[in-house]
Order: sequence, then structure tokens, then C-alpha cells
Amino acid sequence: MRTLHRSALSAVLLVVPFAFLHAADVLTPEQKEDFLTKATIKQSKDVNKGTTGTLRVTLTDGTLTHEASVQAIDDYKQSFLNEIQFKDTYKDNIAAWKLARLLGIGDMVPPSVKRTYQGKPASFTWWIDNVKMDETERRAKNIEAPDKDAWNQENNVMQVFDQLIYNMDRNQTNMLIDQGWHLWLIDHSRSFRTHKTLKDSSVLKAIDRNMLAKLKTLDEATLTKEFGRDVSKPEIQGLLARRDLIVKLFEAKGESALFDRPQRN
Ligand SMILES: Nc1ncnc2c1ncn2[C@@H]1O[C@H](COP(=O)(O)OP(=O)(O)OP(=O)(O)O)[C@@H](O)[C@H]1O
Ligand SMILES: [Mg+2]
Repeated sequence: MRTLHRSALSAVLLVVPFAFLHAADVLTPEQKEDFLTKATIKQSKDVNKGTTGTLRVTLTDGTLTHEASVQAIDDYKQSFLNEIQFKDTYKDNIAAWKLARLLGIGDMVPPSVKRTYQGKPASFTWWIDNVKMDETERRAKNIEAPDKDAWNQENNVMQVFDQLIYNMDRNQTNMLIDQGWHLWLIDHSRSFRTHKTLKDSSVLKAIDRNMLAKLKTLDEATLTKEFGRDVSKPEIQGLLARRDLIVKLFEAKGESALFDRPQRN
């Protein structure tokens, strides 16, 4: 697969001007996971914007060089930031990616794997390199997406995903916008709470038909297998209870709340 891909990449390089080609355009998610897991670490630097000590790490396998966002945070507190049983953990980045794939939205969340960094377990997340701006900047400059329908659809996907995972930290720096005006969802380290209610059902306006169908297929056995020990049983049960509420809410809204989002890439 990898050899095949590499020769395909060489062929593309011959005909596409290099400036327009990104590794992200040609590697499969599995190849990105493989790269993140095995590639050699070349250098790292701090990412200044955030609060959880995220590093921007350069990786290479000899052929391909690409960056990863590395988070090693694994914090659990009885009470913090108005939350009982607060947690902020790299494990949730990996779980969010795996869940995104199960829901058919793996084109909106970058691949993330578990890997040791300087003796500590961490998430290594694929760096999105064609970022145009984040949502903070878009709002500050009051820039409208050129295709409002597509933009709204991707925002609605995000709202459903965040209610499902009970994301406590969807701040606007965790919403990246690429050159094609597509939304990328990053930094899910404060998610997967045990609550069996939705954080805010009022944000749920519309849902992608395929995502709704995939939501319905989620069960405890599948999620336990996908997440391994990264997400606890009460956290999985909370997620499934919220899934039930989301499905019920959209079934009550009916056909008018459904849309069909085109797959990216
Ligand atoms: N995979 C990625 N691809 C591109 N840019 C990224 C990626 N991960 C992080 N960044 C950039 O680095 C910033 C900080 O990273 P991240 O959100 O992971 O850190 P944080 O410390 O948890 O931030 P927060 O303040 O949201 O808790 C992001 O807002 C984004 O601009
Ligand atoms: Mg962040």
C-alpha cells in the first residue's frame, strides 16, 4: 500500500506544481497514523497560543517530513473551572479522532495516535498545514465563508460532535479554517464527560444524514474496542446516553433538519 502510494505520489509530483501539493492530500488516514507512530522526531517547539503545553514537532521517515501537534497533558481534578471531575487529557484527542472516523467525519478531524514523548505518553496529531486562519481571526475580521451552505453544514457537524463528546473547550482557536474554507476540529483534550444530558441542546439545528445513520450504529462494545482504556465505561455510557438524546431530537425535527455533506478530498 505504502509503496503503491509512494509511486502515485511521484507521478503526481511530475504533473502538479509543488506549491499546490500537500502530503495531507495524498496519504490515507491509516498512512498518517502510521507516520505519526513511527517517523523519527527531528525537532520541537512550543505552540504559543494554547494553555496546555502543546508542542509542534517535526517528524520524518526519510521520504516525507511533516509536523505533529504533541500534547502530553493528563490532568484529573476533583473540581476545577466550575466542573466536578475535571479532566484534561491527551487521551481524548485520540478518542475524538477514532470516534470521528466511526461517524464518517474523519475528514474534519486530524488523525491522532498515542506515542511516548520524552518518556511520557502523549497524543501525536497530524498538523494541518494549509491553515488560512482560525475562527477567532475570521470573526475578528468579520470575513464570511464564500460558500455559506458548506460552511454552515460543517459547523453543524461540529455542534453535533461537541454535544456527543461533551466538549468543554470548543473555543475559537480550536476551529481551524483551511485554504479551501473547510473547517478542522482540533484539541479535544477536555471532552468525554460522564453526563447523560446534553451540554446545550439549543445548538443542534441540523445534522448530516450519514452522520445520523452512523450515530445510530454506535454501541458500548464498538466504542470499548475503539477507545481501549482511554475512555472509561461511565464515559462511554454518558456518550451513548447523549447519542440517544441527539437522535431523538433530530427525529423530532424531521426531514427539514437533514443535509448531505459532500466528503472532502
Ligand atoms: N493539528 C494542528 N494543526 C494545525 N495547527 C494546530 C494543530 N494543533 C494545534 N494547532 C495550533 O496551535 C494552537 C494551540 O494548540 P492546542 O489548541 O492543541 O493547544 P492548547 O494548549 O490545548 O490550547 P487551548 O488554549 O485551546 O487549551 C491551536 O489553536 C492552533 O492554532
Ligand atoms: Mg486549543
